[in-house]
Amino acid sequence: MKLTRLLLGSLAGFSVLLVLTAWQSESELSKLMRNMSNDMKRIRVKVQEGQKIPQFYKKYDKIHTAKPSVDSKKGEEFPEMATAFLKQCERLGSSDKSQLRIEYNNLVQSCIRCHEKYCPGPITMLKRLKLP
Ligand code: HEC
Repeated sequence: MKLTRLLLGSLAGFSVLLVLTAWQSESELSKLMRNMSNDMKRIRVKVQEGQKIPQFYKKYDKIHTAKPSVDSKKGEEFPEMATAFLKQCERLGSSDKSQLRIEYNNLVQSCIRCHEKYCPGPITMLKRLKLP
């Protein structure tokens, strides 16, 4: 009796664990995107304050190799748009103070461009990242 209860109990616990792991597991690409989003929020503040942006994009190269949740989210045009995005990161990184805001907004636009094609969900949030 005790044993059955123990077994049932651990079985229930194990299922809960399984569900939680499945729910938490996000794709490599999602993780990278989430990091980029957090970076962008900090970068936005720096640009507003007129500070130059250090080499924030070093780890973004992974955008080319990171696995998406669904293969179709990395379609034919993805590599080209990812390269354009990385180029724009470099431009922001080496921008003069006077051009920071323009280069920053161009970068947000390059996030949006790819999202319009492959992942429309976050577009509203991305638009809010733009600076007036
Ligand atoms: C070259 C295409 C491309 C570019 C550029 C791009 N994204 Fe994404 N983004 C995607 C794709 C595709 C997904 C879906 C990932 C998945 O489902 O595995 C995604 C997912 C996301 C998500 C949702 C992550 C999650 O699952 O919670 C956020 C937020 C995001 N991107 C923000 C950004 C930001 C901010 C930028 C610019 C700094 C950016 N993206 C640039 C293609 C791109």
